[in-house]
Amino acid sequence: LHVIHIAAEMAPVAKVGGLGDVVSGLSRALQKKGHLVEIVLPKYDCMQYDRIRDLRALDVELESYFDGRLFRNKVWVGTVEGLPVYFIEPHHPSKFFWRGTFYGEHDDFRRFSYFSRAALELLLQAGKKPDIIHCHDWQTAFVAPLYWDLYAPKGLNSARICFTCHNFEYQGTAPASEMASCGLDVHHLNRPDRMQDNSAHDRVNPVKGAIVFSNIVTTVSPTYAQEVRTSEGGQGLHSTLNSHSKKFIGILNGIDTDAWNPATDVFLKSQFNANDLQGKAENKEALRKHLGLSYADTRQPLVGCIARLVPQKGIHLIRHAIYRTLELGGQFVLLGSSPVPHIQVEFEGIANHFKGDDHIRLILKYDESLSHSIYAASDMLIIPSIFEPCGLTQMIAMRYGSIPIARKTGGLNDSVFDVDDDTIPLQFRNGYTFLNPDEQGLNGALERAFNHYKTNKESWQKLVKKDMNIDFSWESSASQYEELYEKSVARARAASH
Ligand code: ADP
Ligand code: GLC
Repeated sequence: LHVIHIAAEMAPVAKVGGLGDVVSGLSRALQKKGHLVEIVLPKYDCMQYDRIRDLRALDVELESYFDGRLFRNKVWVGTVEGLPVYFIEPHHPSKFFWRGTFYGEHDDFRRFSYFSRAALELLLQAGKKPDIIHCHDWQTAFVAPLYWDLYAPKGLNSARICFTCHNFEYQGTAPASEMASCGLDVHHLNRPDRMQDNSAHDRVNPVKGAIVFSNIVTTVSPTYAQEVRTSEGGQGLHSTLNSHSKKFIGILNGIDTDAWNPATDVFLKSQFNANDLQGKAENKEALRKHLGLSYADTRQPLVGCIARLVPQKGIHLIRHAIYRTLELGGQFVLLGSSPVPHIQVEFEGIANHFKGDDHIRLILKYDESLSHSIYAASDMLIIPSIFEPCGLTQMIAMRYGSIPIARKTGGLNDSVFDVDDDTIPLQFRNGYTFLNPDEQGLNGALERAFNHYKTNKESWQKLVKKDMNIDFSWESSASQYEELYEKSVARARAASH
């Protein structure tokens, strides 16, 4: 198959969170299965250019439509860890991708509707005939209706459209007046069965549009797929998802086991594997030294937390976990940054409060290298999310021998199974979970983990080794995408004969 992903993120060059990991991990897994995979991204000024190989501009500029006129775009091609990527650089006075940031701009709707249209234009003008165009999240959700409105009729008609929603909290809704800029048919607007937002009828909802217009709609875990079909979990889109339930499925993400491999990880002080955990202990000591934490007591458990600090991640529970860990005699390292100013300020306050305490460090920024060190050094990783479409940190943690302590929701419910839960076969139990998103719930799981760690070293080590050997690779999930793609392509071919 020829698969083209159109996305706003791709690790490691343009990553804000898990979306970036998924776009590259899934692409590489599909490429390994023999498919031709290409990716189209905006050319952000703030990308990690040192991770792109052979970057060059194409001779011919791309013209694309916006606000009723044509704009020129420079198109760049390069390779990111073996994957061919196109980068679109608009010559637009608003300098859409020259903002020093990926998201969070007042005109994000315009930035990404522009990009979605230009990406399709690129495929058309470059003569691409993909079998699958796979778009992700609201930023490229525009691709689905644009494709059927404008590009299928223009001859880019071989493709089936797959849309993956990584988080239904972000739907990118905007006043209806914004929609015409990218050339979408304005008739979609006031149609409840198309792009009209389900609650604010004067607004347009790109995610809804992608659900309606795509051939395949996925989200990133089976449990989350169930949750969003309910009025409590659907963020206003449950009725739309239920009317399109035949094409909607939850597939658990994998992780890129080449990028996340403690045996080869160049960010680590010492590489290690499940048969030799000496390196893990060395990483713990190195991180403690690096961060100025006390390392007198080598048996003191180190709890990590790596997250975008947004309400979804259970901010009050992360805060509580810090205090409770210290009370229980552990050490805590948080790596996280927040796009929400009051949350960032709150955590700066906590960091200040604990200044000089050598059992806790809060590092309030994005730092890829440090994230690897924390996965490797920590004994436990806390993920107390209020909701979590999939979550990757619990899987990465396990691969690095850090035991997850997670709330049972979304993808956490599909990947973390409680050590003490007798209803689950022993071989699947791999961490600590709690159901209620409150302090008591978290305390119970954290205390059980501490107790296990402190009282039965041998059994803890067994758990660490077991978790490190779990297969979280993309292999099986990529096969599920492959099957969906193939079935959809076959259906289209059958229909056209
Ligand atoms: P989300 O996509 O909701 O942020 P995921 O668990 O799916 O959550 O993915 C988070 C990804 O981002 C992981 O790869 C994690 O290691 C990384 N990450 C999160 N916060 C930071 C940070 N402050 N510095 C470096 N990496 C981070
Ligand atoms: C979103 C979700 C997260 C998921 C990631 C990748 O950011 O919040 O749970 O793991 O996308 O699919």
